[in-house]
Amino acid sequence: MSSDLERLDGIGATTAQKLIDNGFRTIESIATARPSELAAIDGITEAVAKKIIRSAAEQSDGVLGLKFKTGDELLEEYNKREILTTGCKTFDEILGGGLSTQRLYEFWGPEGTGKSNMLHQLICTAALPKSKGGLGGGTVFIDAENSLSLKRIREIAPRFGLDGNAVIKGISRAVPANSDALRYMCSQQLGTQIELTGAKLVVLDSIATHFRSEYGAQRQLIPERQQKANQILHEIKKFAKLYNIVAVITNQATGDPSGYGAGIKHSMGNVIGHESEIRIQVTIKSSAKGERKFKVEKAVDLPKSEVVLVLRDTGYYDLGVKPVKINTIKQSDTKMNKNPSTERQINTVEKEVPQTKKIVRRKRS
Ligand SMILES: Nc1ncnc2c1ncn2[C@@H]1O[C@H](COP(=O)(O)OP(=O)(O)OP(=O)(O)O)[C@@H](O)[C@H]1O
Ligand SMILES: [Mg+2]
Repeated sequence: MSSDLERLDGIGATTAQKLIDNGFRTIESIATARPSELAAIDGITEAVAKKIIRSAAEQSDGVLGLKFKTGDELLEEYNKREILTTGCKTFDEILGGGLSTQRLYEFWGPEGTGKSNMLHQLICTAALPKSKGGLGGGTVFIDAENSLSLKRIREIAPRFGLDGNAVIKGISRAVPANSDALRYMCSQQLGTQIELTGAKLVVLDSIATHFRSEYGAQRQLIPERQQKANQILHEIKKFAKLYNIVAVITNQATGDPSGYGAGIKHSMGNVIGHESEIRIQVTIKSSAKGERKFKVEKAVDLPKSEVVLVLRDTGYYDLGVKPVKINTIKQSDTKMNKNPSTERQINTVEKEVPQTKKIVRRKRS
């Protein structure tokens, strides 16, 4: 069977098949690969790899940044952006409406401040239809911290009128065991995974997990650590733009384990800050009241600002908004559920949540 890849210079059916077998299914995935990655495939030399990549870059409209875009093209790209609600009006407002596709967000802060909880909320809102501030899509979750809680999704989703199990079916998740696995995953698997699932959100929780334990504070290892982290973020950012999706990473903090924020610094030095486009600090305002402060620290097009949200069992709320009680809508796998009105409600919601099993071929944006 002939494939799209055969349109590239120097590629016949056999090489195309080898590339596909190694996860390079699209011209874009080749255009954005490194020659050494392709040359690692049996039968492809470094010279051939370079030729294939050049040809792919030409055919995929300069995703490598080798082509200047015109103002009209920039506008077209800008107009394709979609906005994802956080589920909290005051937070959306300081973010310029919500989180934008094509951009990389970083939530950083001390342990237990609620970063992973915010990711769980975003997984739910991303599954909402566009008419309700969502992106109508699933999530690719790179879970270096092993933090994904299906329980939390099932607790938060109903508050947005979604069935928790349907939201969970829209998630695909991997747990890279170390920083090498994480880098490999981001450069070799992420693009294909986004393409196959049609996900609209990619999250990495957290960028610092493996680096902290593997590299510690050894100064001589800092350049290697920074280079690896830089590559990982670069890949995530690239795919956020290529597939018009929202990308969110979390990062940890050093100093002040209390979580209130005094004297804390983000982990991993400056490399994360350079790559993340919107950096948001998360700290505890009042532990007893569940209040968390989200502070926009750095963004080229947003003023510095902050907002206090309240973390409840059904997720984050604006200050003063009464939280929805947990389990007001039953999940779809409750086979015992004989209440027809509840079943109807769940069925309607499920239709709005795309499943990962479907193969969605997308136009590059
Ligand atoms: N059902 C719930 N209702 C209210 N708060 C909750 C609930 N579940 C967890 N929390 C709170 O969430 C906080 C932990 O949040 P989370 O795991 O998102 O933090 P984190 O910033 O990701 O931490 P880490 O850096 O360790 O990964 C704890 O303070 C906990 O009390
Ligand atoms: Mg966490």
